[in-house]
Amino acid sequence: MTVVGIEGVLSSGLKRVQAEIDSVFDAFLPVPNDTRARLVEAMRYATIGGGKRVRPLLVVSTAELYGVDRTAALRAGAAVEAIHAYSLIHDDLPCMDDDDLRHGKPTLHKTFDEATAVLAGDALHALAFEILADTETSSDPFVRSELIATLGTASGMNGMAGGQIMDMVADEEGVEYDLHSITRLQQLKTGALLAASVEMGAILGKVPPEGRAHLRAYSRDIGLAFQIADDLLDVTGDQEKAGKALRKDDEQGKQTFVTLMGVDKAREQARVLVDQAVGHLANHGAEADLLRELARFIVERDR
Ligand code: IPE
Ligand code: IPE
Ligand code: MG
Ligand code: MG
Ligand code: MG
Repeated sequence: MTVVGIEGVLSSGLKRVQAEIDSVFDAFLPVPNDTRARLVEAMRYATIGGGKRVRPLLVVSTAELYGVDRTAALRAGAAVEAIHAYSLIHDDLPCMDDDDLRHGKPTLHKTFDEATAVLAGDALHALAFEILADTETSSDPFVRSELIATLGTASGMNGMAGGQIMDMVADEEGVEYDLHSITRLQQLKTGALLAASVEMGAILGKVPPEGRAHLRAYSRDIGLAFQIADDLLDVTGDQEKAGKALRKDDEQGKQTFVTLMGVDKAREQARVLVDQAVGHLANHGAEADLLRELARFIVERDR
């Protein structure tokens, strides 16, 4: 996927990571010559050649601040992306958002079938932790276990899956979210994996937890801004560019920043969050420019 309209360091950073992550998944997912082939074909369909790769870029650019080997950072980036890809496969299923289009092509359950979609999600979920547990990701067992714990927490009930259920029950009678609850929903559903991406870059860099406070502040702000931007895109975006069906959140009874405060206020809020995020990087020099530009891209993006 090519990203147009973004200049400079971010554009080349995204393109480079997109190509690298494609080849990492290509290497991890050789199609077996037996009846599991359909499963692996589906895993490849979901992970190769689609998506902006924002999460791997967050891992790699944070890791770069601390001189981490790029191959290790890409493996960790692929692990987060595997969780993200699985979350999208399941998110698109008829029992969830019931979507037919993703990354400009039919959703996985449309091209394959629902059972394969469930299993491809399951297997990508497992693959993420296989990658992190491998000594090729880090020779240090403490680093490996912290990576696993971080991604596990961000994926489960205190992360993505927890946020997804909050999102799912939003249309049930009697469920009315205030700003505080929507913030929490978004932080879990989307913010947690983005924050884990930054955290994992720092873990690979052996930055002690007390040295990560500014990075956590940065990723909390971009995480929230990212989902506000996604909800804005749903209302104002171009479906062709987004590569997925838009104008669905309202119809499906989703509660978002946009439904609560309207388009203009939500956009303003996202921009404030991004300025705040960039502010947290003030103690870094030009080496953090990619993280700064990525934060701006997150709210200004059209896909
Ligand atoms: C879409 O995420 C789903 C959300 C968590 C908002 P992305 O916008 O990162 O999706 P891709 O991977 O680039 O398609
Ligand atoms: C999905 O949010 C977040 C996930 C954890 C997958 P959305 O349902 O808004 O994402 P899109 O709009 O389908 O990409
Ligand atoms: Mg959804
Ligand atoms: Mg969806
Ligand atoms: Mg959406």
